[in-house]
Amino acid sequence: MALLAPSILSADFSNLHQQIRLIEIGGADWIHCDVMDGHFVPNISFGSVIVKAAKASSVLPLDVHLMIENADDYIKGFVNAGAVFITVHQEAVIHLNRTITRIKELGAKAGVSINPSTPVAPLKDIVEEIDLLLIMSVNPGFGGQSFIKSSLRKIEEAAKLRSKMNSNFLIEVDGGISINNVKDILDAGADVIVAGSSIFKADNISAAVTELKNIISSY
Ligand code: DX5
Ligand code: ZN
Repeated sequence: MALLAPSILSADFSNLHQQIRLIEIGGADWIHCDVMDGHFVPNISFGSVIVKAAKASSVLPLDVHLMIENADDYIKGFVNAGAVFITVHQEAVIHLNRTITRIKELGAKAGVSINPSTPVAPLKDIVEEIDLLLIMSVNPGFGGQSFIKSSLRKIEEAAKLRSKMNSNFLIEVDGGISINNVKDILDAGADVIVAGSSIFKADNISAAVTELKNIISSY
């Protein structure tokens, strides 16, 4: 069954502990942490201090999505803060194999993310090394954007590449996902669904998580 990873980017940070409790009550599987540096993406969000606070608030695995340059300099800090998965952007890392190796040596699971305009195929030579492939279905930088439909084809391509290479990375999809389109994304082959605004901007956060989870579990 696919997993649900609410993104705290859209949470109320003045009340983060309580907001995390609400997604736990609703049945979230992971907590997705969107780290933005204002260089790789045109927005600044938060760093390892918030990841550490999320760790103190929950037993759920922390899924840290680094939308930053110079990721190598920060991996250790995020591992120490409690990250279970650390995902870097293919477009922002020069020596991807070295960075992935470093993440794994430090004891975390390694993910690679690609922007909507980045093709899946060139990742062929790295997929055997990774635990997770994150397909961005919006241009990273902001919550609340619309799902880019061509991402569905990329999810299918990633699933084909996985069987062709006989590897077993998880396929995660991030951006513009709600109860209205999650089935299409599962149909295409996603294993992990990230959702930010459709959960944290809902009137009832726990109920929004449960509603998405019910669709995922009935799938
Ligand atoms: C975008 C982030 C996403 C985003 C998801 O840069 O990586 O995780 O917050 O938010 P929604 O679900 O609102 O598109
Ligand atoms: Zn993300």
